Amino acid sequence: MAKILILFAHPAFERSRVHASLLRAARSLQDVTIHDLYQQYPDFDVIPRQEQPLLEQHDIIIFQHPFYWYSGPALLKQWMDLVLEHGWAYGKEGLALKGKYLGNVISTGGHESAYGPDGHHGYPLREFMLPFEQTARLCHMQYLPPFVVHGAPDLTQQQLNDYTDAYVRLIKGLQSGSYDLPQAQRTYYLNALVSPAEPKPSQG
Ligand SMILES: Cc1cc2nc3c(=O)[nH]c(=O)nc-3n(C[C@H](O)[C@H](O)[C@H](O)COP(=O)(O)O)c2cc1C
Repeated sequence: MAKILILFAHPAFERSRVHASLLRAARSLQDVTIHDLYQQYPDFDVIPRQEQPLLEQHDIIIFQHPFYWYSGPALLKQWMDLVLEHGWAYGKEGLALKGKYLGNVISTGGHESAYGPDGHHGYPLREFMLPFEQTARLCHMQYLPPFVVHGAPDLTQQQLNDYTDAYVRLIKGLQSGSYDLPQAQRTYYLNALVSPAEPKPSQG
């Protein structure tokens, strides 16, 4: 059974609708470690010695967060800056994360079409994920495509419930090893594993 660690970062969780639903569902699952970064480090004083063993103990690391300015919230970046140390995560001797998987679970205000050709946001969503993707690569990890909840402000309760159910299926499937992960890496969004229709790459 694969060990899953969800690193959760939401600076305004009390106002969250999407992640409140996703996280509540994830919390109900067995054997998933949920680490709420804003709760743990409200002053941004991330302690690498505390974080690194946690990563070492898990096989699949998920950054779960709202999409903020085409990236993650600030504390997630702070966490990356401090925890992914040279000689531990990367560099010749930095092999602690080798072979593990890293992926993002995100919500966006923008609709899928806004990340399409001529869309409001100018580039396909996956291009904005490149810093995460390449970080995984530098740390000898395998990057999983993101699981994405688009159009957060306009989601009906039913759509949010469907995304939440899909997220639960995804976590369970990852835990039980139901997916061919090298094949999953070739999807555009990980939603394709658990939803009927896969969002199309928006360009090229
Ligand atoms: C500071 C800030 C930056 C944001 N940046 C983006 C963005 O770059 N792209 C986007 O599609 N939505 C953006 N949004 C919208 C959020 O992604 C959206 O409100 C969130 O995913 C909803 O999830 P929640 O209900 O869990 O809070 C931003 C929101 C805030 C507050």
